[in-house]
Amino acid sequence: MNKGKFYITTPIYYPSDKLHIGHTYCTVATDAIARYKRMCGYDVMFLTGTDEHGQKIEEKAIAAGKSPKDFLDGIVEGEKGVLDLWKLMNISNDRFIRTTDDYHCKAVQRIFRKMYDKGDIYKGAYKGMYCTPCESFWTESQLKDGKCPDCGREVHYAEEEAYFFRLSKYAKPVQELLESGTFLEPASRVNEMINNFIKPGLEDLCVSRTSFKWGIPVDFDPGHVVYVWVDALFNYCTALGFLNDGYPDSDYEKYWPADVHIVGKEIVRFHSIIWPAMLMSMEMPLPKKVYGHGWLVIDGGKMSKSKGNVVDPYLLADMFGVDALRFFLLRTFPFGSDGNFSNELLISTINTDLANDLGNLVSRTTAMVEKYFGGELSSERRPDALDDELISMIEGTAAKYEAQMDKFQLHLALEEVFRLIQRANKYIDETAPWVLAKNEEDRPRLASVLYNLLEALRVSLTMLRPFIPESCDKALAQIGASDLATWENAGKYGVLPLTVTVHKGETLFPRIDAAKALEELERRKSAPAAAPKFPPVLPDVSIDDFAKCDMRVCKVISCEAVKKSSKLLKFILDDGSGTPRQILSGIHAFYEPEQLVGKTVVAILNLPARKMMGQDSCGMLISAVHEHDGKEELHLLMLDDSVPAGFRLC
Ligand code: ME8
Repeated sequence: MNKGKFYITTPIYYPSDKLHIGHTYCTVATDAIARYKRMCGYDVMFLTGTDEHGQKIEEKAIAAGKSPKDFLDGIVEGEKGVLDLWKLMNISNDRFIRTTDDYHCKAVQRIFRKMYDKGDIYKGAYKGMYCTPCESFWTESQLKDGKCPDCGREVHYAEEEAYFFRLSKYAKPVQELLESGTFLEPASRVNEMINNFIKPGLEDLCVSRTSFKWGIPVDFDPGHVVYVWVDALFNYCTALGFLNDGYPDSDYEKYWPADVHIVGKEIVRFHSIIWPAMLMSMEMPLPKKVYGHGWLVIDGGKMSKSKGNVVDPYLLADMFGVDALRFFLLRTFPFGSDGNFSNELLISTINTDLANDLGNLVSRTTAMVEKYFGGELSSERRPDALDDELISMIEGTAAKYEAQMDKFQLHLALEEVFRLIQRANKYIDETAPWVLAKNEEDRPRLASVLYNLLEALRVSLTMLRPFIPESCDKALAQIGASDLATWENAGKYGVLPLTVTVHKGETLFPRIDAAKALEELERRKSAPAAAPKFPPVLPDVSIDDFAKCDMRVCKVISCEAVKKSSKLLKFILDDGSGTPRQILSGIHAFYEPEQLVGKTVVAILNLPARKMMGQDSCGMLISAVHEHDGKEELHLLMLDDSVPAGFRLC
């Protein structure tokens, strides 16, 4: 039964680092909704991806000694990268977009031009207090004690040419959209947006940058790159072939507008204000809904690399299993609110819900059908009033589950299923099948009891399947219901054949010894990463010999690739002497020239000049080099930009 299309998206994540449990939470939740909608008969398009431009990525790549694209390829496509993580977590996305994909870049240039031609993007000047080392503009109110809030250094007034989007023009329609009812959920986020952003007055948005290069160039003004959020938000349309040849236009016609964008609460502002305003400017249909989910926090605070409290989904999936992790994330935390993550909670949820309630129901029921009926139920039956409540729950849970799923209240949908599972476990105690089994004339009654339990399981497993697909498929096979686990059957009683065949299988969710598991987690977390091989220290040199090396701080004035050379970059440096110095360096495999202009580097100046590809090289740049698994890694030594050119290293 085709119910029409359903287009659902996650945010596209920044691959500036490995993704963590917070990203996993959002993607697993979106996956459960997508799977549920497919089960209900929708033609689902589920999109996720990576947001790959911007200064932060550029800086990370430089710090890793790689070109941005190489750096990104490692994090997205490399071992234990983003794609690996989604495969491991059994994510059923239909598409994956990288914003460095050519089709996307071209489409964004066309979109930018369209808004410009319409007059909604105009050239102006960005004015404000500027911190040179951080390359950032700040408003007066953002400064800390009059200084840069990031690095604490002096700032100065500056103006920079930039493009602006007329966000202010769309303030009224956006406010109406927010107030119109169901566009933004949970509802509490609507007031937050109106009070914090719309009421104080929406200012036009700066949508281009000239201070760094790692972005999509504005094609009619190449010194500018498109602001990363404009680039990123349009991914939801470009991945459907909008203004590009990457995918057929018909996908855009069919799936746009999105039925829901699932996003974390911190980026609700971009999705519920800036995004609809830009779509209005483009005269495109608006997404039907933006859902802002809460954060997973640790001890009340956000996870962050710098705090060292980031939780690694690979480690947890490896220790506890993919389905157990998926289940924990969606069962425990109300989707719209923050939730406090802890390993203790993870283990107790697995033990209580999966090992005890669900696992026991599956293993006890299948074991009894095997033991008392040799695996195949006989067809005689003897119903009893004791069955009524369970049967009415078998018939009635799907509707309650559906109501919660359609509101994205995933934890409450699971709560409904577990009510049924707990009721079924209680039913075993009430009917005491082991007593019935002792008496031959109670066999029809025993068959009724076991049949009712199998039906409760069939319905529960059907509804749990979007959350823990692999385990449900195994359990459905055990109870002979693989082909019967459809949504049409989820609200019905009496679907399994009377003489259903059952076989007991492996334990789905073994009980976890909490103390041992916590200890093991700690051990694995603190296991050192494989250390690079340490080459032997070279023979001693005298201090006088060392002092003969004239190493100086230099500023990169310009940098370009040397023609016909795949390795060489040509640097013009300010070495503090007042005369520009030319050095050639074979590091193009690790850096793009535009990454290095303006950087503060170190060069040894008193090496004899030599010719490389016919050009003079007067000195050598200093890098940290290391060989690992036969591959060279190189990091150009860079200093804080506050160190002036010409300073000597000693
Ligand atoms: O914001 N708890 O990317 P991002 C729950 N590229 N969810 C979390 C979380 C946590 N502790 N940490 C991250 C970006 N998330 C942009 C998005 S979309 C056009 C561009 C999830 O890598 C949550 O969904 O910072 C959040 O919104 C998203 O990851 C942010 O990922």
